[in-house]
Amino acid sequence: MADNTTFQPPRGMRDFYPEDMRLRSRIFDAWRTAAEQSGFEAYDACVVESLELLKRKAGEEIVDQIYHFQDKSGRDLALRPEITPTLARMVAARQGGLAFPLKWYTIGQCFRYERMTRGRKREHYQWNLDIIGEESVSAEAEILATAVRAMQQLGLPPEAYRIHYSSRTLLSALLYRLGIPPEHHQPAFLALDKRGKIPDSAISELLRSGGISNEGIPAVLRLLEIRSLDEALQVLGSDSLAADEINFFLACANAHGILPALQFDIGVIRGLSYYTGIVFEAFDARGTLRAIFGGGRYARLLASIGGGDTSAVGLGFGDVVIAEILAERQSAQTELPRKGYHVACMHPDQLLLATQIAASLRTQGHCAYLALAPMKPKTFFSKADAAHAAFAILVGPDDAAAGTIRIKDLATRTEAACPIQQLLE
Ligand code: HAM
Repeated sequence: MADNTTFQPPRGMRDFYPEDMRLRSRIFDAWRTAAEQSGFEAYDACVVESLELLKRKAGEEIVDQIYHFQDKSGRDLALRPEITPTLARMVAARQGGLAFPLKWYTIGQCFRYERMTRGRKREHYQWNLDIIGEESVSAEAEILATAVRAMQQLGLPPEAYRIHYSSRTLLSALLYRLGIPPEHHQPAFLALDKRGKIPDSAISELLRSGGISNEGIPAVLRLLEIRSLDEALQVLGSDSLAADEINFFLACANAHGILPALQFDIGVIRGLSYYTGIVFEAFDARGTLRAIFGGGRYARLLASIGGGDTSAVGLGFGDVVIAEILAERQSAQTELPRKGYHVACMHPDQLLLATQIAASLRTQGHCAYLALAPMKPKTFFSKADAAHAAFAILVGPDDAAAGTIRIKDLATRTEAACPIQQLLE
C-alpha cells in the first residue's frame, strides 16, 4: 500500500520555493553589493563548529539555544548560532600573516533553538560585516554606513528604520560612578539587556547574583531611564573617554550622511558577552518587529581565543525581519525585469532546430529557456509572459521551410523577422 505521509520541514526551519528565492536573492544581492562597494572581502566557513568554541564565546542566552551533537568519533559539534566565534578562530589562526585592518563579509546560515516569535526562526541567514584590527570608531561608522547602503539598495527610505546605539564603555563608566567595581559590570550588562523581556524582579535577582548589593540595584535600574546622550554625558562629565569616543563616532557617521538614522538608546546593551564598546541595533520605525540587525565593538575576543590583541567591530543582519519589512511595504514586489528568450517549437520535427537556436543564443551570452517538447502557441506565449521573458521564438513548420523565424518582443508585442542562419552564426 502507498505511504501517504507528507512531511513538513522541522519546526522553525524554512523551505525556499522558487518564488521565495526571488526575495531571498534580492536581499543577498543588496548585502553583497553594499559590502563590495565599501571594499569588504568575502570569506566563508562551515556551519558545523566545535561546541567548545561556541560555548566559550557566545552569550549565555545563545549557549542554551545551540543545536549540538556528537559525531561518530565522539567529537562535540554544533550548528553555529552565529558566525563571530568562527571568524575570530579563522583570524587567530593566521594572525601573523594577515594585513590588518581586515574588512571581511559573509552570508551564512545560523541555527538557534529559539522560542518562535515573529521575526525569529530556528534557522536564518545572517550577513556578517566585520572590521578587524582598527581601533578607531571610524570603523563603527563604516560598518553602519555599509548596512544603510544595503537598506537603500533594498529600496527602504531612511524613515523606515532607526539605528539605536549606546556604548558599554559609557555604561561601565556610569556603573563605576555608582561605586560598582569593574568585575561586576559584565553580569550587570547581561542582566540589564533583559529589560523588557523579563520582569524587573527577575533582573534584580540577576544583578544580585552578579555581585551587586541590594542598595545598589535600584540605582543600576534607574540608569536605564536616561533618555538622551546629553543626559548621560551630564551624569558622567563630558571629558570622559566614552564621551570622546561617541562624539568622534557621531562625527564619522555625519560624514557618511547617516547621522539622521542614529538614535541614542541606553537600553541597547546586547545579549552577547564579547561586546566592549559602542553597540547598536536597528529597528523598523514603528518598533513592532524584532531587531533588523545588531552588532558592536569586541576588543578582546581575538586575544581570548589565542589571537593577537586585536580589536574588532561588526554586525549581523538577518534575512527574516528585513523580508517581513519589505513584504509589508510591498516594495518587495518581486516584479522581475523582462530578460532573455523563450524558445519552443510547434511540432516535433522542429525540436532540433529550436534546440540549435537556444544553444546559439546561450553561446552569444543570452538567457534562453528551451521548451523540451512541442507547444501550442497560446500556451507557449502565456508561459513566456509569466516567466518575464523579453523575447519569444516559436519555431513552426513554415518558418523552418522559409529559413526565417519571427522574434516576438513581449514588452511591445511586436514581431521582427530574422533569417535562421543569422541567428545560428
Ligand atoms: P545577534 O544580535 O545575535 O548578533 O544577531 C544578529 C541578527 O541576526 C539579528 O539582529 C537578526 O537580524 C538575526 N537573527 C538572530 N537570531 C535570529 C533568529 N532566531 N531568527 C531570525 N533572525 C535572527 C550576532 O549574532 C553577532 N554575532 C553579530 C556580530 C557580528 N557582532 C559582531 N560581528
